[in-house]
Amino acid sequence: MYSRVIGTGSALPRRRISNDELAHMLAKSGIQTSDEWIRTRTGIESRYFCTPELQETTSSLAVVAADKAVKSAGIKPESIDLIIVATTTPDMVFPSVACHVQVALGAQGCAAFDVQAVCAGFIYALNAADAMLRAGPYRRALVIGAETMSRLLDMSDRSTCVLFGDGAGAVVLESSPNPGILAARMYADGRYGEKVLAVTAHLNRGELVGDPFIRMDGRQVFKLAVDGLTQSAREVADLACVRTEDVALFVPHQANLRIMSMVSKKLGINEEKMIKTVAEHGNTSAASVPLALDSAVRQGW
Ligand SMILES: CC(C)(COP(=O)(O)OP(=O)(O)OC[C@H]1O[C@@H](n2cnc3c(N)ncnc32)[C@H](O)[C@@H]1OP(=O)(O)O)[C@@H](O)C(=O)NCCC(=O)NCCS
Repeated sequence: MYSRVIGTGSALPRRRISNDELAHMLAKSGIQTSDEWIRTRTGIESRYFCTPELQETTSSLAVVAADKAVKSAGIKPESIDLIIVATTTPDMVFPSVACHVQVALGAQGCAAFDVQAVCAGFIYALNAADAMLRAGPYRRALVIGAETMSRLLDMSDRSTCVLFGDGAGAVVLESSPNPGILAARMYADGRYGEKVLAVTAHLNRGELVGDPFIRMDGRQVFKLAVDGLTQSAREVADLACVRTEDVALFVPHQANLRIMSMVSKKLGINEEKMIKTVAEHGNTSAASVPLALDSAVRQGW
């Protein structure tokens, strides 16, 4: 048995913020940046931020993306057996975003849980769903990546606040005797966590303890990302018995155009085959891959 993607969907907050607008906002508090700096170092031109007054949350974005995926698959929400949401920014400690989606779609009774693996989250969620569909008894899964990274941004730290955005993407997976997902490879290296990229805050007895903002050693992340993405892509291609040069469409995590270009070059994948949404969305963490995938589908891939 395999699992196959039979529908995709995505959602963005209403508010789009261009580099120029962001630079203008930051300048008011004495933080200097520019469209030119952001564009040349990252390829980012804009990002979308949720507006809490409009009730835009991780769950609300996840619900819109999920609804579109379900409609594009042509299925009824009641036929979903499993909902997995990849997110680092759930609305609350619990219930999970997956439970919120379940209620909003009317998919009561199915299994629902969140996965937390930050930017790799969607791949973890997709792999978990694939394994559960192949093992049974589940037949249909909704796999979502949804984030409101704007909540974690320190707007006085120009090295991080220009990089991230909010959004959601979703796919419907169905078990099938015909080939679908051929191979997956997942890694983690917790040794780098707090030193390189982390939000260390937690709740304890009514108190917020630790630093609630993203802290990052950008140069270190850059190097680790290029090496890690290249190595895992090579391994997964080997597992699936395909040459990286032969892939029809490459959908990498959308963090930085320079990272993406270096990885595609190392893999021998023509950049024309790489979907690029980072310019428009910024880095939406776990939402980036399904947002990019849905964008590719809408473009007719
Ligand atoms: C963050 C990143 C864009 C920084 O680019 P860089 O070329 O490494 O830049 P540096 O951090 O060396 O900073 C160079 C200079 O630009 C400055 N700078 C940093 N952010 C800036 C900004 N938004 N605007 C203007 N200048 C900025 C720094 O202060 C530094 O100035 P200095 O030389 O006077 O000290 C890059 O390291 C990166 O993209 N890393 C990966 C991040 C990522 O993808 N994280 C998410 C992973 S899922």
